Amino acid sequence: MKNLVIIANGGAGGINFPHRRAQGLKKAVSVGYEILKNGGSSIDAVEQAIMVLEDTTIFNAGTGSTLGLTGEVEMDASIMTADGNYGAVAAIKNVRYPIQVARLVMEKTDHLLLCGDGALKFARLCGIKYHNPKTKEKIRMWERAKNRLKSDYFPKLYKLKELYETVGVVAMDTNGFITAGTSTGGISLHLPGRVGDTPIIGAGTYANKYGGVSTTGHGEMIMKTLLAFRTVAYMEKYSAPVAGKMAIDYATRVKCRAGIIGIDREGKILCVNNTEAMSWCYIKNGTMKSFY
Ligand code: GLY
Repeated sequence: MKNLVIIANGGAGGINFPHRRAQGLKKAVSVGYEILKNGGSSIDAVEQAIMVLEDTTIFNAGTGSTLGLTGEVEMDASIMTADGNYGAVAAIKNVRYPIQVARLVMEKTDHLLLCGDGALKFARLCGIKYHNPKTKEKIRMWERAKNRLKSDYFPKLYKLKELYETVGVVAMDTNGFITAGTSTGGISLHLPGRVGDTPIIGAGTYANKYGGVSTTGHGEMIMKTLLAFRTVAYMEKYSAPVAGKMAIDYATRVKCRAGIIGIDREGKILCVNNTEAMSWCYIKNGTMKSFY
């Protein structure tokens, strides 16, 4: 029998609200694993698991996304399959499930990435309804953070380690087919129009026949290091745990604060970070393990 595997992370920014975090991650991988167990595809498993995380509100993705400098929520998401298909949205507003729109970009367009108003228009044409992703909790956090800023214009962000709450899921189905996906509200107080690593192919998400990876952390540095691609490239020669160690050692050397989850072609898992803590949960062949 082939391995059935699904792994999710809830960001590498620490373990606040552990109970809600645990509930969200466990539910996400359970929903995804049920699909895999019933012979469903890793694409469906990843999409549905990320939709659970996007609804959880504790994470920085979907409802409960962090607010940018002007108080707007702009979300990024991407999905990639082992056969090289890719879809992403950047700086999209007012949808409930950015990952769903990313999948629609992958399956219904000739493009890889749609952004801003164009992405939103496309989503509406696909029947995706208006949704306000701002929560009272995240508005309060935004107000507190904004009060600490010295300037209203191009702030140098600080205490970034508290803000890495991007979610990701990687899954392998009964055909050994791997899909990776990532979703985020970006970095708190980002400038309007800022796009992070999450929708950039090879930065936030990457998959090929050797494996699949989703990253979380400081987007600007993850883009510069193409961290997801780099990790999957290591998997050509090495198993997932070794590739994960090589990738996070590299990230540490170049001062890229990140967390990485992934699965290789043999169903082995990687789960590494160089931040204070990263919450994660996986189910492999019926056994669940987690950290949060
Ligand atoms: N890693 C998420 C972001 O920087 O936008």
